[in-house]
Amino acid sequence: MAVDAKAKALKAAGENVIGFGAGEPDFPTPQHIVEAAVRACRDPKMHRYTPAAGLPDLREAIAAKTLRDSGFRTSASQVLVTNGGKHAVFTAFAALCDPGDEVIVPAPYWTTYPEAVVLAGGVPVIVDTDEETAFRVTIEQLEKALTARTKVLLFVSPDNPSGSVYPPEEVKAIGEWAVSRGVWVVTDEIYEHLTYGPHEFTSMPTLVPDVADQCVVVNGVAKTYAMTGWRVGWMIGPPDVIKASINFQSHATSNVSNVAQAAALAAVVGDLSAVEMMREAFERRGRTMHRMLSAIPGVTCLEPQGAFYCYPNVSGLLGRSYNGRSATTSMELADIVLSESKVAFVPGEAFGSAGYARFSFALGDADLEEGINRFADLVARSRANAS
Ligand SMILES: Cc1ncc(COP(=O)(O)O)c(C=O)c1O
Repeated sequence: MAVDAKAKALKAAGENVIGFGAGEPDFPTPQHIVEAAVRACRDPKMHRYTPAAGLPDLREAIAAKTLRDSGFRTSASQVLVTNGGKHAVFTAFAALCDPGDEVIVPAPYWTTYPEAVVLAGGVPVIVDTDEETAFRVTIEQLEKALTARTKVLLFVSPDNPSGSVYPPEEVKAIGEWAVSRGVWVVTDEIYEHLTYGPHEFTSMPTLVPDVADQCVVVNGVAKTYAMTGWRVGWMIGPPDVIKASINFQSHATSNVSNVAQAAALAAVVGDLSAVEMMREAFERRGRTMHRMLSAIPGVTCLEPQGAFYCYPNVSGLLGRSYNGRSATTSMELADIVLSESKVAFVPGEAFGSAGYARFSFALGDADLEEGINRFADLVARSRANAS
């Protein structure tokens, strides 16, 4: 937040800041989706409340799309349409957690997860991962984190911020572990369509049907269809969880905007050609960014497997001076790079793993190259601190 506020202030002051902080596609929402929203705006029927759980057609379409895209068979009655994937995360933990219940959250994690757990009265139990295991949690680590209070495992693949994707055999092993230990799983599938090279998304309840009775799937249109501002997501879960969640939502927010639901309906019933076009652009940019970051001495970076982030280890850049300013943490490095090079990235501290940095490649190719070049130039001019 501090880096973001400073980047915005510099931009407002007329500086040419290149931002790698954005967690959203830079493409406009595909035209046929926008047109569906325009039609909905003109239809007085769509000026009213919808059922709290969402438009019946949209719930049906989400169930059908889930079978199409991840092979998980569910029914419309098990779908709750929420105000974005983030709202689904909050609602899922509110429904599942009793006070003091522990939720295993692998780090680095999307910043919202631990907050959502705490607001639901739960206790996040952070399990650290690093590039040695490509930021994937192991069964041994889960076993170690397990206590009598463990209620939920938070699972996300493709992952924000690390860009890693779990291979099917590990998704299966983790799902089977959850079943054997009676632990719920909240599985965030929001980046399902953004995978690169040989890496492919697989859905835990498809690979482990037995987990479906203790699993909530979180998803949404934001990342897949460049619809972050429309605020439509959903959760899929066992009937009692969805029933409680609908009750909760009906008092908290009523329904998601009717017009936005009409847009989401057009998105999920449509084909995936626009999505594929965006995915190809992200793949190209991800490879460029990875190549450029890896060429900077002191930086090591895994090739992104999914989502739209590179998550390099920048600890080799610490303990050095940049234009006379010393960086001892990735947070300080982010601040210095922003001031000196007008390049914004998110330090690993935001994701519970200091020493790393998140660079989003959801920006144009020219800006991407210019921004990484500026960062590389600053590093090339840095000096080792006298000890
Ligand atoms: C892993 C993950 N899940 C969920 C979301 C929520 O997306 P939205 O609330 O825009 O649908 C995000 C957004 O950054 C994310 O990175």
